[in-house]
Order: sequence, then C-alpha cells, then structure tokens
Amino acid sequence: MLFPCSACLAQKGRADTALNSNLSLEVNKMNGSVEQTRQTYPGWDEFYNKDIDEKLDFFKLNGRLFDVIFAQQFDRPFMDYLCKIADMIRLLAQTKMGQEKLRHLLPHKRAMLYFVQPSTRTFLSFQNACYILGLSVSESRGTSTSSEVKGESSEDTIRTFASYVDLIISRHPEAGFAEKTAWVLNQTDRPVPILNGGSGPDQHPTQALLDIYTLERSFQHIGGLDGKKIAMVGDLKRGRTVRSLSYLMKNYNDVSLYFVSPDVFRMKDDIKKFLEKHGIPYYETDDFESVMPLVDAIYMTRIQKEYSDDPSGEADTYPEFHFKKEHLSIIQPNCTIMHPLPRRYEIEVEVDNDPRAAYWRQERNGMWIRAALIAYVFQVEQEIFAEFS
Ligand code: NCD
Repeated sequence: MLFPCSACLAQKGRADTALNSNLSLEVNKMNGSVEQTRQTYPGWDEFYNKDIDEKLDFFKLNGRLFDVIFAQQFDRPFMDYLCKIADMIRLLAQTKMGQEKLRHLLPHKRAMLYFVQPSTRTFLSFQNACYILGLSVSESRGTSTSSEVKGESSEDTIRTFASYVDLIISRHPEAGFAEKTAWVLNQTDRPVPILNGGSGPDQHPTQALLDIYTLERSFQHIGGLDGKKIAMVGDLKRGRTVRSLSYLMKNYNDVSLYFVSPDVFRMKDDIKKFLEKHGIPYYETDDFESVMPLVDAIYMTRIQKEYSDDPSGEADTYPEFHFKKEHLSIIQPNCTIMHPLPRRYEIEVEVDNDPRAAYWRQERNGMWIRAALIAYVFQVEQEIFAEFS
C-alpha cells in the first residue's frame, strides 16, 4: 500500500529537538551526582529558531566549512571534493610510505572525542581517522568521570576542551547539542571546529557523508548516484542517519526516495517538506517486498528504541521490514544493500557474503571520509593531492 504523499505543513519540528531534554537529569538521578547546571545564553533561542539557511554562514570561516553540524551544510562541489580527498587518502594508506606521509600532515594538532552517547563505529572511525593524519586524541566517553558530575554545564565542559585541543568531535543524546556548543565557542577567543558525530534523533551529518561516499563508489561504473532510486527502510522517524542522508539528496540529479516503514515510524514532515521544496520525489509505503525490485539501493535501519517514551510497550523488531536471504533473488543485480550499523535482525547474516552487501565496506568508508573531512578542516588536502601530481 502506498501512503499518500502528504503536502505536509510541518510545525517547526522543534518540540522534540529542544535542548531542555530530561535525559541528563535522569542520568544524574541514577548516579547520585549533582543536577547539571543549565546556563541561559542570551541570543541562543533566537538563533536556534532561525531558518537553517540563515544559520549556515555562522559555521563557516573564510568561505570554508568550519563546524560540521547539519547535513544541509554540504553542497555538490563539497561532496565531490571530499570524496576525491577520501579516495586519495585511501590510496596513500595502502603503502607504508604513503601512511607516513599522511601521518606527517597533522602531528601538531590535537583532537577531543567527546562521546557521551554509545558509539562503536563513529568513535573508532573518527579516532582512527585522527591517527591516520597524525593527530593526538583525547577522549571522554561518559559524563560520570568529568566535572559534569559536579554539575558543570555541557557548554563549560566543551569550552574547557577548547582550551586544550584544536578540534572537538561530539556525540550527544540531545538534539541541537553540537549546534549550541559551536554557537557558544564561535563567540569566544578560542573557537575550535566542532564536528557533530550524532545529536540525538536529529542529525548525523558525517554518517551521511560516508553513506554518499559508499553510494558513489558502488555506482561508479554506472553513472554515480545521479538518477538512482533509493529505499530507506525501518525506523525513519527516529533514525538520524536517514534524516541526514535525505537532506543530502538535494545535491544529486533525478534521485527518488522510497520510504518503507511501519506506519508508526514514518519519515517526519520536516524532511518531507524539505524534499518537496527541492523537487525530490518520494514515495511512502509499508510494503517492503514491492519496493525491492525497483530500487538501486536499499538502506536498512534499526528500530531506535532508546528514544521511545514507552520502551516496554514497543516491539523490538518488525519482521516485515527485514532483508532476508531469499530477497537477494528479487533485487536488481547492481543493487547496493546498506546499513549504518549496528544491526539487530534487519539483515540476515547469510546476506553478508553477497557482493551487493555494502555495509561492512560502508563502515570502513567512514574512516576514509572522516579523515578527508579532518584534512579539509585543517586545509591540508592540497598536500595530499600533491602526492599524485
Ligand atoms: C547509527 C547512529 O548512531 O545513529 N550508527 C552509527 O553511527 N553508525 C545508527 C544506529 O544506531 O542505529
């Protein structure tokens, strides 16, 4: 069944992206620490509620991206450029000499990985991207061992990192967190770039970069991503990866999207409105099998139960939205099967060895594209290109 393609009038969609979530208060109750200080920053609410297009310049410096907060910051020239840098890094990394060259690019820089929400791939790929380019890395993987236990605000915590390092990469359960910290830091005398490694159910822009890189590589012999049909499957409502990836589709010609989900997890109106504004066709359905033969890529996602208001009342798994071994015979010969991972039951393990299963390559691509992003942020990409001239 096809859902009607609603010309939705999304309310600003800010309610569930508000910063005053109770999450950190809940954590504090559990570990007996002091309630976190919530500072009021004059001007923040006004900035946060602006249209995204009005905010983009604030996260740039001298015409280049400085902070990476939203997927809407990336245009096509940037995407193509970044994929090219990632290809060069990948090639150089094949030899010991090439790896040494890469390691000598940024040994004078230090990065902080502030990951206070669980992460395996995003954390490790960023950490290893730093190692590839020679950066030193510090990390915090929870709030229980920092001064946040004493009630320090997140903004002061981040500002403290900026006193010691040249780059901050953050993952946080609150939507808007990366944006707010970049906004605060950019008004200080030591702004350092912030890269958003996931902000609640809202955005995951660097995942979208690696997803595009994977799609472009998968389709490199059949005209790239332009003109392709992509299915996104699962929890589209709370999955930040599919949200960020949808935004990036504005950069590609003639792409169409198939949103396949249980009714309760349909893609939110803000994304649909964005697609309508940019003339990107999308279809909504709960009939996964009918979509399988039509598309060039199938992007599977996990049910994001951690964001549920009532986890015990929610099903763990939706078998009609799983990709099974028998489905391999009905998808196109060039179809790419993707997943941001971690997976639960969405893709049977028997699918893993099919050449169209791209998710393990996809996770490794995360390291190359993040290394490319860091090289871009510190403006050393010309030195990488020079190795090939
Ligand atoms: C995703 C995330 O954290 O949003 N994982 C990732 O970063 N690779 C997807 C998920 O957790 O389901």
